[in-house]
Amino acid sequence: MLIDTHAHLDDKKFDEDREDVISRAGAAGVALIINAACDINSSEKAITLAQNYAQIYAAVGIHPHDAKDAGKDYLQKLIELSRNEKVVAIGEIGLDYYYDFSPRPVQQKIFREQLSLAKELNLPVIIHNRDAHKDVLEILHEEGLGPAGGVMHCFSGSWEVARECLNLGMYISFAGPVTFQNAKKLKEVAAKVPVDKILAETDCPYLTPHPHRGKRNEPANVRFVVQQIAELKGLNPDDMENIILKNAKKLFSL
Ligand code: NI
Repeated sequence: MLIDTHAHLDDKKFDEDREDVISRAGAAGVALIINAACDINSSEKAITLAQNYAQIYAAVGIHPHDAKDAGKDYLQKLIELSRNEKVVAIGEIGLDYYYDFSPRPVQQKIFREQLSLAKELNLPVIIHNRDAHKDVLEILHEEGLGPAGGVMHCFSGSWEVARECLNLGMYISFAGPVTFQNAKKLKEVAAKVPVDKILAETDCPYLTPHPHRGKRNEPANVRFVVQQIAELKGLNPDDMENIILKNAKKLFSL
């Protein structure tokens, strides 16, 4: 049994064939999917999906790209949305200094506020970090993580960054890039992360793993990520699947 711990099935790229995508995931052995949100609207869509499909769970939150449009009452809205029983995390939240779609001080403020909200709600956090390792870690140290912990999604940093996340008690999630043939450093990081702290995801519709790179991504492809991690760990893929499922169930209380 596979789990895709980070998908964006509410994305408009799935508007034409969402149902087919979800049934293909089931046919490929993906028994559970966590749908991560980007803003209030996509948080609501994630919840609707989770209500329509038993195997889908929702995260609610404001992505750093959308931090500038969060609105004054966004925390109150997230609190209300999080009351739904299928909401299992706050996410995705964090910092993105690659695109800088929102001013950095605004990204930082919204990130801090949501970290504190997650603690208050006792929910784990799903963290997005692109080219902002230093500030993400600094803010995590300052704000602290609640007992529910969190995951560094689509991990792209060095072993030093991974080690600091592990010291904070976080899980490290790998996506399509770990399967890319030129991803030597990332493969080295994945080989070092303890198996009981590893998760796998697609981040679909983006970051399609090898050998489907270039096409739209979907949850069924999480298999390729798990196979790659298994190979790096010297485990058979079935065992790796079970370990990752167990890790995810623990983090998200599934
Ligand atoms: Ni994402």
